[in-house]
Amino acid sequence: MLSLSGAVLISALLLSPVTAAQAPFRWDNLVPSQNLAWVECYATFQCTRLEVPLDYSDPSIGTAVLAIVRLPANVSSAEYRGPILFNPGGPGGSAVDTVVNLGSSIQLIAGSQYDIVGFDPRGVSYSTPVASFFATDAERALWNAGSVPTSLNASSDALPHAWARARLLGTLAAQRDSGILRYMTTDNVARDMLRITQKFGEEKLQYYGISYGSILGATFAALFPDKVGRILIDGVLDADAWFNANLTIEATDTDKVLQTFFDGCAAAGPDLCAFYASTPAAIAERLAALTAAVRATPVPAVTPAGYGLVDYSFLRSALFSALYVPYQLFAPLAHGLAALEAGDGAPLFGLIQAAQPPPFTCAGSANPVPFHLNNGEAVVAIQCGDAVEVNDTLPELREFYAEAARTSEFVEFLVGSNRVSCAGWQVYREGRFTGPVAAKNTSFPLLLLTTSADPVAPKAAALKTLAGFPGSAIFTQDSPGHTSLTAPSLCTVGYFRAYFQNGTLPPPGTVCPVDVQLFGGPSSSNATKRTEEEGDTAVLTALKTIADVVLPIITRRGL
Ligand SMILES: *[C@@H]1O[C@H](CO)[C@@H](O)[C@H](O)[C@H]1NC(C)=O
Ligand SMILES: *[C@@H]1O[C@H](CO)[C@@H](O)[C@H](O)[C@H]1NC(C)=O
Ligand SMILES: *[C@@H]1O[C@H](CO)[C@@H](O)[C@H](O)[C@H]1NC(C)=O
Ligand SMILES: *[C@@H]1O[C@H](CO)[C@@H](O)[C@H](O)[C@H]1NC(C)=O
Ligand SMILES: *[C@@H]1O[C@H](CO)[C@@H](O)[C@H](O)[C@H]1NC(C)=O
Ligand SMILES: *[C@@H]1O[C@H](CO)[C@@H](O)[C@H](O)[C@H]1NC(C)=O
Ligand SMILES: *[C@@H]1O[C@H](CO)[C@@H](O)[C@H](O)[C@H]1NC(C)=O
Repeated sequence: MLSLSGAVLISALLLSPVTAAQAPFRWDNLVPSQNLAWVECYATFQCTRLEVPLDYSDPSIGTAVLAIVRLPANVSSAEYRGPILFNPGGPGGSAVDTVVNLGSSIQLIAGSQYDIVGFDPRGVSYSTPVASFFATDAERALWNAGSVPTSLNASSDALPHAWARARLLGTLAAQRDSGILRYMTTDNVARDMLRITQKFGEEKLQYYGISYGSILGATFAALFPDKVGRILIDGVLDADAWFNANLTIEATDTDKVLQTFFDGCAAAGPDLCAFYASTPAAIAERLAALTAAVRATPVPAVTPAGYGLVDYSFLRSALFSALYVPYQLFAPLAHGLAALEAGDGAPLFGLIQAAQPPPFTCAGSANPVPFHLNNGEAVVAIQCGDAVEVNDTLPELREFYAEAARTSEFVEFLVGSNRVSCAGWQVYREGRFTGPVAAKNTSFPLLLLTTSADPVAPKAAALKTLAGFPGSAIFTQDSPGHTSLTAPSLCTVGYFRAYFQNGTLPPPGTVCPVDVQLFGGPSSSNATKRTEEEGDTAVLTALKTIADVVLPIITRRGL
């Protein structure tokens, strides 16, 4: 999940990298304010920097400054319905950049009566002070380069090595902390959301969050049940598991998603799936044989863009990444596997590399945007600072890992790496919220959205979350992958919109079909015909934009 953990460098994503459509905005030129003092930015957006207390129970400790962007509503003031805050997961992703890229798409789906608002959580990206464990970008890049091997299964010393590196990183973090780390916890981010909502002049939160954003939304509802206006969360995680530094439940369906690769490939046939065999079991065997071969003999790969090794860790990481976004990656993954089997590692290597351009070249071209490379630090600071103190000894960690491995063969990634990365964390704030993430009565029902097989946010986690919020509702999108955004569904969008616009909940048991098929085969629903209907084309385009922006973020960061 995070290269900083020393455990995993989720390399993923073969989606076209998305860049902010507009020139970078100079946040450092904007004077922080106690109010929402908007200035024009990013062409059609407005920006502000809001001062918030580092510690809401003791304002004398100091302030953090949140970077906030909004796409203003496009209606008369009589029709205006307030802000919808968005969090894209990670944690540690820049919601500002994300909203600049997809705000208009969310607004098209939710309705033009809403401001679409992104804020960088405290310590993250454009918000200040920023969390940083490294003096320079080069130092950070060197640390990340040392995080190989990326699979905790790669060798017998991979787990001990990752554990020791986590302890080293925990020491660095504590030594180099400017003071922000202990205040970056999710409960404080939830408090910031209430503050932002109030600064808008609203009493209740309207919120849309995916992946880790589901933990933020559910935590808000647990802390402020009477301030819930609308909370829609997609890719729902078990927040109690998060606060306990035990993500085992999140791996409940991971292997099921891999099975959809085998099943889908067998069904698609050799023309659509290059790694085809006549039965799913035969494809599974073919993959196992390839994995063993690569483990024994790593394959050098040279592409026009670079070079490297396709080894066991690389292959496993590529597979795990593909499970997040089956509709986007299964077909090119199959092509890459077939080529690898034939001795050519370049297609698979290129697939991963395309989505992971280095932060800068050795010639030294710097990232022009300040504060932008701290996502890795942010994810460690938030996930470890949120959780109970872990402090596993190596034998304890081995035991945890072995037990978690009973849930999924991919325990080497999310579950293991989350636990490992917190083994050396030292900066905890006394009195932080660690659950239970529940409330008997929220002022409006939450709406939870899950897919039929999510590799890191299974239905079991969504149902557990639902059980904490009586009266709330859940519906399912019938597709494998992480969050509903991996596959467009006009049905899903319809319920999304109805919830925000009318407060309508889907009937119990609602399952939405998707309008695409794995490996690019013909769709089982009639979306092609339906796109003729007025508005549907625009909605499908908006969904594609959201997916293109968000999926690389969640796939790269883990959650
Ligand atoms: C609303 O959007 C339409 C279509 O993009 C645009 O022409 C119009 O100027 C916008 N109106 C306001 C009030 O922003
Ligand atoms: C982690 O959670 C799983 C359930 O998801 C549980 O079976 C296991 O005992 C937990 N491990 C620890 C160390 O708490
Ligand atoms: C963590 O473990 C180390 C080594 O076992 C020990 O010295 C330290 O006191 C522990 N810290 C906490 C908070 O338990
Ligand atoms: C990774 O290690 C775990 C625990 O030892 C094991 O259950 C799992 O099968 C391994 N995965 C692979 C692909 O070897
Ligand atoms: C739940 O909260 C709503 C709104 O705050 C309130 O009207 C209702 O009476 C509460 N119900 C219960 C059972 O407490
Ligand atoms: C909201 O309710 C109105 C009135 O029942 C209906 O016409 C409209 O289609 C609904 N909007 C959505 C998005 O479901
Ligand atoms: C597609 O349309 C046909 C007839 O127009 C209908 O019988 C069928 O059930 C539809 N399929 C789906 C998945 O909606």
